[in-house]
Amino acid sequence: VKSIAVLTSGGDSQGMNAAVRAVVRSAIFHGIEVYGVQRGYQGLLNNDLRQMDLRSVGDIIQRGGTILQTARCKEFMTAEGQERGAEILRERGIDGLVVIGGDGSYQGANKLSKLGIKTMGLPGTIDNDIPFTDFTIGFDTAVSIVVDAINKLRDTMTSHERSSIVEVMGRHCGDIALYAGLASGAETILVPEVPFDLNEVSNRMADNFRHGKRHSIIVVAEGAARGEDIAAAITKNNGIEPRVTVLGHIQRGGAPTHNDRVLASRLGDFAVRKLMEGDSGKSCGIIKGELVVTDIDTVVNTKKSFNMDMYDLALRLSQ
Ligand code: F6P
Repeated sequence: VKSIAVLTSGGDSQGMNAAVRAVVRSAIFHGIEVYGVQRGYQGLLNNDLRQMDLRSVGDIIQRGGTILQTARCKEFMTAEGQERGAEILRERGIDGLVVIGGDGSYQGANKLSKLGIKTMGLPGTIDNDIPFTDFTIGFDTAVSIVVDAINKLRDTMTSHERSSIVEVMGRHCGDIALYAGLASGAETILVPEVPFDLNEVSNRMADNFRHGKRHSIIVVAEGAARGEDIAAAITKNNGIEPRVTVLGHIQRGGAPTHNDRVLASRLGDFAVRKLMEGDSGKSCGIIKGELVVTDIDTVVNTKKSFNMDMYDLALRLSQ
């Protein structure tokens, strides 16, 4: 491998910059030329690549967002777009590509690998919805942001003996709600993976106050329900008027935690080493602290399993 490229794609996540830095510096350390693709697959189709040097990734390990910027590219979902992308990389003499992103980005990487481009995927999404890795880059930071927000809400909710509904990100995966809910002592956690009954949710909230609690918190993943709809149902059923907070894109910004920086640095370096070994079409992940690779084909065709034990624990502890 003489020359590789790196891109970030899909929704950004904290730690993407640390991953780009690791890919660039690890490649240069091993004598490999490295190019940054601006704006994900869209940038690839626009031939928007620039050579990176050691200094081009200076002062970014602590920054949220991605210096390479990102985009969701419809054109790259077509066979024509994918072939053109592979052609552009070949014309530039680029042997390998590191794609940092979520599920959609992995689909693109999978196609490029089938077209003969040596490709490595790094799981970069706050949602933690990529299987075959315990954690994705950005998840730890996003959960910390949600926990911090709930701590603040708890103060004012307790003063007023109010209930609170916090809507968090996670279209198909409830991990942000699960981890943040457990870490902040939420009474109810609603996720897309676990069906729920709105009457039970309402009654549980009413019971919380009857049992002497001075606040009651529901964390709901956006993929399970909208916070406003849950609040309306509770008001209708029990007359309680919960306050709703939608955290939105706040969850995707800010400085990455040390966990995300370490994870991104390890995975970025690992991806470069795997490309040097001639590996391709793989997703890099971390399982029980060990770096692992899995076929991207398997990753995109597998649904991440939900940790029901942790879910039950959160409910048991918040009685
Ligand atoms: O990256 C995934 C995600 O964080 C989802 O949880 C969320 O629904 C989505 O991104 C929203 O992103 P955007 O507004 O950029 O489309």
